[in-house]
Amino acid sequence: DKGEYRHFMLKEIYEQPRVIKATMEGRITKTRVLEQALGTDAANLLENVRHVQIIACGTSFHAGMVARYWIEDLAGVPCSVEVASEFRYRKHVIQPDTLFLCISQSGETADTLAALRQAKKAGFRAAMAICNVPGSSLVRESDLVIMTQAGPEIGVASTKAFTTQLTALLIFTVALARHNGLSEEKEAEIVAALHQLPGQVSDVLALDAEIEDMSKAFMDKNHSLFLGRGSQYPVAMEGALKLKEISYIHAEAYPAGELKHGPLALVDSEMPVVTVAPNNALVEKLKSNLEEVRARGGELFVFADRAADVKPEDGVHVMQLPSVHEITAPIVYTVPLQLLSYHVAVLKGTDVDQPRNLAKSVTVE
Ligand code: F6R
Repeated sequence: DKGEYRHFMLKEIYEQPRVIKATMEGRITKTRVLEQALGTDAANLLENVRHVQIIACGTSFHAGMVARYWIEDLAGVPCSVEVASEFRYRKHVIQPDTLFLCISQSGETADTLAALRQAKKAGFRAAMAICNVPGSSLVRESDLVIMTQAGPEIGVASTKAFTTQLTALLIFTVALARHNGLSEEKEAEIVAALHQLPGQVSDVLALDAEIEDMSKAFMDKNHSLFLGRGSQYPVAMEGALKLKEISYIHAEAYPAGELKHGPLALVDSEMPVVTVAPNNALVEKLKSNLEEVRARGGELFVFADRAADVKPEDGVHVMQLPSVHEITAPIVYTVPLQLLSYHVAVLKGTDVDQPRNLAKSVTVE
């Protein structure tokens, strides 16, 4: 039931503060992650993990890409991320002390399951799943499971599944990092940032009308670029995927530093450039990328931390977001991009909940 909402996608976007909270519930205290809440055997399975191999498809793959930044940053454990359909069809090397982590909303994606089954033959330390559907094949075939508490996701374009996957992945990362020297102080800082998330996502939802206004600029465009740096690069990828899926506008994501290595040649007044720029160490660098785009007549749409001091000017539209902790920023910054693609699609009159050619769960190769 869509209730008061025009589409399931919009309803699911608005459910995010609640389902993110539900995904944290029972898994964190005020200051700590409860490792035993991840599974009675979690402490044993996470000890001596020397490598994490993440496998997923689509939006779930983007969640894995964010997690890689977290895992290497906080746990200092090397992490590889690959789309399932690539991994399963190449010769791969898995070390025995690897945690094999599959991320899937449905838990039934054929390529992801095939990758897991193949990897089992090669051997690894443990199989872990981040999944939204209890009793799914992925859940049944994994040693350690963190269920996202997103509830059923009806819209084909994944929204609340993604942000709850990220929430679960951050909790997992802290647990893993504790086995690898994460200080109690740092853990408390991250857990405090987690507690702030539902409120911050609500604050972003309050910008809906402004984002709807911004969406008008995309209506008559055929192409767009999405830029981000660091853990915001996968956020840009996810923003681009949402826009192509439901509005059928070609959208490509680039790590901002790659701009001058090719895509800059595409930039002109017909190519809107969307950028996510939280206030971290990379924001100064990002600002120079913005100038590169601006100098070529490209119109910029910047989602930036209030404190980042990105100034709106002619051709530069700035949406100021609440100040957030750098670690949780990818979760918060996903939400305005979901709203942007939603409103563009509504303006274009596409079938938002059931985009052409797509299925909710891809159970065939
Ligand atoms: C995009 C989308 C897809 C899925 C992908 C994997 O909005 O929904 O890209 O993320 O098909 O599905 P799951 O997560 O069920 O394995």
